[in-house]
Amino acid sequence: MSEQVAERSDMWSNSFIFVLAAAGSAVGLGNIWKFPYIAGENGGGAFVLVYLICIAVIGIPVMASEIMLGKLGRASPIQALLNLARTHKRSTGWSCVGYMGVLTGFLILSFYAVVAGWVCYYILRLFSGEFSGADASTVGEAFGDFLADPLQVLLWFSVFMVVTIFFVARGVTRGLELCVRYSMPAVFVLLLILIGYGIHAGGFVESMAFLFTPDFSALTPQAILIALGHAFFTLSLGMGAIMAYGAYVPDEVSVGTTTFTIAILDTVLALLAGVAIFAIVFANGLAPDAGPGLLFETVPVAFGNLPGGAFFGGLFFLLVALAALTSAISISEPAIAYFSERGKLSRAQIAVVIGGACWVLGVGSVLSFNAWADVKLPFFDWTFFDSLDKITQLILLPLGGLLIAVIVGHVLPKHVVYEQLGLEQTQIQQVWTYIVGYVTPTAVFCVFIIEAIREILTHM
Ligand code: TRP
Repeated sequence: MSEQVAERSDMWSNSFIFVLAAAGSAVGLGNIWKFPYIAGENGGGAFVLVYLICIAVIGIPVMASEIMLGKLGRASPIQALLNLARTHKRSTGWSCVGYMGVLTGFLILSFYAVVAGWVCYYILRLFSGEFSGADASTVGEAFGDFLADPLQVLLWFSVFMVVTIFFVARGVTRGLELCVRYSMPAVFVLLLILIGYGIHAGGFVESMAFLFTPDFSALTPQAILIALGHAFFTLSLGMGAIMAYGAYVPDEVSVGTTTFTIAILDTVLALLAGVAIFAIVFANGLAPDAGPGLLFETVPVAFGNLPGGAFFGGLFFLLVALAALTSAISISEPAIAYFSERGKLSRAQIAVVIGGACWVLGVGSVLSFNAWADVKLPFFDWTFFDSLDKITQLILLPLGGLLIAVIVGHVLPKHVVYEQLGLEQTQIQQVWTYIVGYVTPTAVFCVFIIEAIREILTHM
């Protein structure tokens, strides 16, 4: 174990690099692709408000908990939880959260990489100038044609998977830092350019109204669960990804400050992406609830009608692909770290085996948009892609997050937790215990129960 610590302590040399890595994990397709389309499908404003509340009340405490558990356990999530259970004489059964996380990560990566593959194809498509001057219907059709071709989608999914395996095999730090340090501010600037297009083309005001005027009559119980699940997804929580990164954090790094920085960065980027995309939607009379294709049916329209649009549009998708890559790397980290610890295979071998298995599973998601479009899960009417997406986001991540909050709130000795958080004042300690021990788990639990009852009632 001491060897592991020595080997790992050189991972992030300071807290800035850790924040970059964790922000690289958090900011990804969840912000730019997923958040806008689920906000659109769930009616906008009220959904966005619930999502923000979930980030504050559930996401932030769970993120602090994950970083703390990683720092305390100094190993892969499975091993970290085992180490902690042994040190504090608690049940080693809590390591089930780690195993569940490995499985969840595997499921997420398989469909995440498929969407990242779409993004990769769009880098070339935009650079080629194909969309110069194109109107919304041409762009929409072009996306439909692409998805209808399984070989093409499979090709780009495979490209993304190979690149991910390559970086995972080489180890985490190198490249990651560089990538995040430059690409995140660049994504930010390009989103501002898109918003500028919206102001010019006339969809900006409507977009702001859509996202920030809550209409609670549009809010369904399922939307609350989706917002909750998305708070976990977008902050990379509930499966040990941030815990695995936390294992490499130097002791002096403050859990509180890093948590807030990451959460704020992630939220700002998601909101900017939302404003930019809905401005394009409203400027062109498109439907806000277009679903997973929304990003690909809107952004090319804007760049197609901006000067230098082919270049900036290509750059935009390139940056989104890099953001997806830094996220994909983190999704695989709990599994890679766990199997590396067991010492039988090299990191590269593990990356190839896990990546290969993910690729096989991902083929199901590739086909969900064409050959298997009509193959649906009975009862729920979900395609293969939908099923993986929903089972992870609506069940596995919230469940993992709930258990993580319970571990930190009730299982670990309180003084250990306070020391990690640097909390000295009793009142603040009480507030923290109350939030992570009661508010967070209860909130997750209630949303689960309400949704479960609703499901049962609707299918009766
Ligand atoms: N948060 C990333 C995004 O928004 C995706 C991601 C990375 C993730 N690591 C994760 C999602 C762990 C869930 C769990 O794109």
